Amino acid sequence: MRRPALDGFTIFGHRGAAGSAPENTLAGFDAALGHGARWIELDVQAHPEALIVFHDDRLERRTDGSGALLETPLAALRALDAGDGTAIPTLEEVLDHLRGRAALNIELKGGRAVGERTAAALDAALAGGWRAADLLVSSFDHAALAAFRAALPQVPVAPLFAEDAGPAIATAQRFDTDVVHLARDLATAEMMAALDAAGLRAHVYTVNDPEEAERLRKLGAAGIFTDHPGRFMLHT
Ligand code: G3P
Ligand code: MG
Repeated sequence: MRRPALDGFTIFGHRGAAGSAPENTLAGFDAALGHGARWIELDVQAHPEALIVFHDDRLERRTDGSGALLETPLAALRALDAGDGTAIPTLEEVLDHLRGRAALNIELKGGRAVGERTAAALDAALAGGWRAADLLVSSFDHAALAAFRAALPQVPVAPLFAEDAGPAIATAQRFDTDVVHLARDLATAEMMAALDAAGLRAHVYTVNDPEEAERLRKLGAAGIFTDHPGRFMLHT
């Protein structure tokens, strides 16, 4: 059995296990689970034909194709190799694949449409057996997150901050959540103390060094996103 080495600390497999398996793919998510992670982070975009699990705007870095993700027909996307012969998945496929086996942080990439469409997909997932407590929806785009929140208030949300965490407390209160997601550079001792005093939990991205994770935990972080979830697990 594997359990997190840092008790009370949530380890999110970033894009699955992006450091050792194709990111944002079913194989990558299975790898993260195999490494002992329970929580998996993925990125979702609102393609005209489906919600697509993919990080970049363009296809070149992560596939054998080229061009803009959202301008490529779904059938052509599905024929691409996203690494080790695996395909780019849809959000629906991921929800089917991981139901009952994982908890999922879905990061919305894009505007209000991705928020509204993801709410519809998760509403169906809740009807199909997913538990709201095993879902967490986040976004740098707070308009997208607000659209999601308005449509499906029973699923927890976390606003993401990349460059300025100054508005984090007020934003969390506006979203009626106690969770915020921060870039590493924003997780200063002062900021972590302020978040703690406000009763907020902070998850920090992207942390691949166990010593840094321990330092963040001591500052009050509630968890990290890592490309290497196996580094943070005890094998017992
Ligand atoms: O959700 C945390 C992290 O994934 C945000 O940044 O660019 O890796 O999606 P990015
Ligand atoms: Mg992400």
